[in-house]
Amino acid sequence: MAEFKKADSMLEWFDQRLGVIKFSKVMMSEYWIPKEINFLWAMGMILAVMFKLLVISGIFLLMYYKPDVNMAFDSVNYTIMQEVAYGWLFRHIHAVGASVVFLVIYIHMFTGIYYGSYKKGREMIWVSGMLLFVLFSAEGFSGYMLPWGQMSYWAAYVITEIFGGIPVIGDELVVWIRGNFYVSDSTLTRFFMLHVLLIPLAIIGAIVFHFYALRFPHVNNESGEFFDYEEESEKYLAGKKKEAKVIPFWPVFLSKDFFVLGFFMLFFFYLVFFHYNFAMDPVNFDKADGLKTPAHIYPEWYFLWSYEVLRGFFFEIAGVSGKDLGLMAFGFANAIFLVLPWLDRSPMVKPANQRPYFKYWFWFLMVDLIVLTVYGKLPPTGANAWVGFASSMTFLVLFIALPFITKAEAKKVGGK
Ligand code: HEM
Repeated sequence: MAEFKKADSMLEWFDQRLGVIKFSKVMMSEYWIPKEINFLWAMGMILAVMFKLLVISGIFLLMYYKPDVNMAFDSVNYTIMQEVAYGWLFRHIHAVGASVVFLVIYIHMFTGIYYGSYKKGREMIWVSGMLLFVLFSAEGFSGYMLPWGQMSYWAAYVITEIFGGIPVIGDELVVWIRGNFYVSDSTLTRFFMLHVLLIPLAIIGAIVFHFYALRFPHVNNESGEFFDYEEESEKYLAGKKKEAKVIPFWPVFLSKDFFVLGFFMLFFFYLVFFHYNFAMDPVNFDKADGLKTPAHIYPEWYFLWSYEVLRGFFFEIAGVSGKDLGLMAFGFANAIFLVLPWLDRSPMVKPANQRPYFKYWFWFLMVDLIVLTVYGKLPPTGANAWVGFASSMTFLVLFIALPFITKAEAKKVGGK
């Protein structure tokens, strides 16, 4: 056993046993972050805080929620909303949080795309981020089912039905996911387990992995400049703080983050207290009824863009039915972001507005995603169906064209 000398302070006592001083240096005061970053770099920390808030509010809801088709609806809409003291507050925090977290995820993702933060060396940050996106989507979808309202039931029905489109195993896969031939009590209890246990555990693991993946390539900066972190951190430690291009994670970077987080929390609690309705569909205040289909079935706003890609193909092309084309396009739309680091063939790490061709691609994509989201909520009839088709096609073409556009860009700027 190692020799221990008598500690002079409590800190030293813990340091001898747990290496807390070294640990706090590695994780906090000597973890270097570039100086040249703006408020958009606070989104990652806001996401980490939002996840904690969702877990805490979820634990309170869990004390009264009943995962049973005969009791779920009343346990939410009556027990939690009316009987339990401040139950409404925890429900609003949870529902508004679940919606707003996607807004922040999208801002975080598109900041990464705008600044090219997924490029060479940072691929694993991007891939782990996409894993988090998939896990949050599964968490959002499974949670939406729990109040057992009309939209919970029918959204679960439509989304699980999508898996039926997979060749050969599709039909059996749908039964396996639902635990029955139709959406029923067994579906509710397994989605409950996924929502409160398995997916949150996986999210925690993925967040740890995402943070770890950031450690070696380091965080990108506003101009995309590469520099020597060793050299810059030495300058900082030598007292040349103005000259150094880096700041320590704690206390400098985190104080910037807390400032942005403060503004975000004002906005968030304003929504929780005064505008919570946007996060709760009125149709979901009717109890689930498998015999009464709602006039329009649509998912939460953050899934609308991909839902519209699914619906966009409503007619047969070259002998392939609209339904099959929609399913293929939907699969493509959900998988394509994962391989973005390999689709962008230009090594240039710069903000999109300084990239001659990519900037058009980026803003086209933004507009297209907004159009898809807006039309995803409208009934797919008449002109709406054609707008849906055109914007779905635009989405596919944009991603197919990306390697060619970025290759041409790399040629134009001489590979820089
Ligand atoms: C949902 C949970 C997530 C959490 C808690 C999280 C957290 C963080 C944090 C703390 C950072 C460093 C600071 C910053 O740039 O904000 C970061 C960076 C990054 N994240 Fe995430 N993130 C999440 C999801 C995602 C998603 C969905 C993506 C997209 C695929 C993503 C991609 C990235 C990228 C590319 C960076 C590097 C940014 C840079 O180098 O400038 N993250 N993340």
